[in-house]
Amino acid sequence: MAATASSFLAAASASCVAISTPSPSRSSCPHLLRANSPATSLRSRLVSAAAPAMQPPVESRVSTVVDVDLGDRSYPIYIGPGLLDEPDLLQRHVIGKRLLVVTNTTVAPLYLEKVTWALTHDNPNVSVESVILPDGEKYKVMDTLMKVFHKAVEARLDRRCTFVALGGGVIGDMCGLAASAFLRGVNFIQIPTSLMAQMDSSVGGKTAINHPLGKNLIGTFYQPQCVLIDTETLNTLPDRELVSGIGEVVKLALVRDAPFFEWQEKNMTALLAREPSALTYAIKRSCENKAEVVAQDEKENGLRATLNLGHTFGHAIETGFGHGEWLHGEAVATGTVMAADMSYRLGWIHESIKKRTIDILEQAKLPVALPKGMTVEKFKNIMALDKKIADGLLRLVLLKGPLGGCVFTGDYDRKALDETLRAFCDN
Ligand SMILES: NC(=O)c1ccc[n+]([C@@H]2O[C@H](COP(=O)([O-])OP(=O)(O)OC[C@H]3O[C@@H](n4cnc5c(N)ncnc54)[C@H](O)[C@@H]3O)[C@@H](O)[C@H]2O)c1
Ligand SMILES: [Zn+2]
Repeated sequence: MAATASSFLAAASASCVAISTPSPSRSSCPHLLRANSPATSLRSRLVSAAAPAMQPPVESRVSTVVDVDLGDRSYPIYIGPGLLDEPDLLQRHVIGKRLLVVTNTTVAPLYLEKVTWALTHDNPNVSVESVILPDGEKYKVMDTLMKVFHKAVEARLDRRCTFVALGGGVIGDMCGLAASAFLRGVNFIQIPTSLMAQMDSSVGGKTAINHPLGKNLIGTFYQPQCVLIDTETLNTLPDRELVSGIGEVVKLALVRDAPFFEWQEKNMTALLAREPSALTYAIKRSCENKAEVVAQDEKENGLRATLNLGHTFGHAIETGFGHGEWLHGEAVATGTVMAADMSYRLGWIHESIKKRTIDILEQAKLPVALPKGMTVEKFKNIMALDKKIADGLLRLVLLKGPLGGCVFTGDYDRKALDETLRAFCDN
C-alpha cells in the first residue's frame, strides 16, 4: 500500500497532466472557472402560487424557481418557505395515479403526513404508498434499496407511477436509484429536507448506494421531474447537520462565485441563526451554481468535478477517522482549508484567500484542522485509493487566481502537497 501511495505522489511531481491548466490564462483553459458564467440559459424567476383553500391564510406564497436546463430532461427547483402547503406545485409533476414516498424513520414522523396531504389534496384519484427506511449512511446499501423494490412490486406499481424522495441526501440518492431502475425507470420527484440535500445532492441527478469497499460506487445519472425545497423543513434539522451543510455552501462559492462568498462573509450569523431569508438565498444561489454546472457537464467529464473542492482531503479524513466520526460537510471544511493551503504554497492564490477561507469556516464553527491521529503516511495511503486518480496521477481541485477561480488538475508540484500534509498531520 505504501508503495502505491509513494508512486502516485512521485508521479504527481512530474509534469504530466490529467486535466490541467499549464498557464493560468482564462481564455485557454476550460477548467479555470469563474462565477456567473453566462453559458447556460438558466434563469431564476419568481412565481406566486395560490394557497390551497383548506389551508390557514398565508400572506404571501412566493417561491423562487431555478430551472435546470437539460433539454427535454429539464426541470424546475422550487425554493421557499411553506411550499409543502401548496399541493399544486407537486401535483403538476406527478405522472400516473400511484405514488411511492421513500423516506426514513426520522423524517417520516415529521413530514410524511404533510407530503401525503400535498399529493392527494383535491386529487382523490391518486393513492400514496410509503416505505420507511432505517436512518443513516450505513443503510445506504443494496439491502435497503431492495426494501424499496419489494414495496413497489408488492403494491403492484406499474410504469405510470411516481417515486417521491422525502429526506436528506441518503434518501434522495437511494430513491433516485430505485426510480431509475424500477421497471427500467419511473417518474421521480425530490423533496429534500436537509441543507446538504437542498443545496447540493437533490440537484443534478446523481444517484447511488455504497459498496462495502467504497462510497457511492453503484449508481446512475437520473434526473427528477422537479425538486421541491420547503425551507421550513430545516427548522427540525439538528444544528450539527445544518452547519455541515454550510461547509458545502462555502466550498461551492469558493470554486465559482466570489460575490456569493462575499455575501456569506457578511451573512454567516444569519445563516447560523436559520434566518429564513438568508437560508433561502443561500439555497437558491447554491442551486443556481449547481444547475449551471450540471447543464454544462451533466456526466462529470470535467467542469462538474470542480464541485469536489476539499473532497479528496475530506474523504481521506472521513476514511481515516472512520465514517460517522465527522459529518461529511465537516470533513469537507477541513479538506477545503487544506486545498487552499496547498494552492497558496503553489503560489496560485493570494494569502488573503486562504485566510478568508479559514475565517469563514471558523465563523461557521466548522473544523479547520485535523484532530490527533492522522499521520502523513496514513493520509497518503488513503489518498492513493481516490477515485480521481487517472493513469496513476492524483488530480485535485485547487484554487487558482482571484477569489472564485479554481482548477481540476494533476499538474502540480508534489512538494506543495507534501508540505500541506506535513503542516496538517501529526507527523
Ligand atoms: N447525489 C449527489 O449529487 C450527492 C451530493 C452530495 C451528497 N450526496 C449524498 O448525500 C448524503 C448526505 O446527505 P445528508 O447530509 O442530507 O445526510 P442524511 O440524509 O443522512 O441526513 C442527515 C440526517 O438528518 C436527518 N434529517 C434530514 N432532514 C431532516 C429534517 N428536516 N429534520 C430532522 N432531521 C432531518 C436525516 O434523517 C439524517 O439523520 C451522502 O450519502 C452523500 O453521498 C449526494
Ligand atoms: Zn460533498
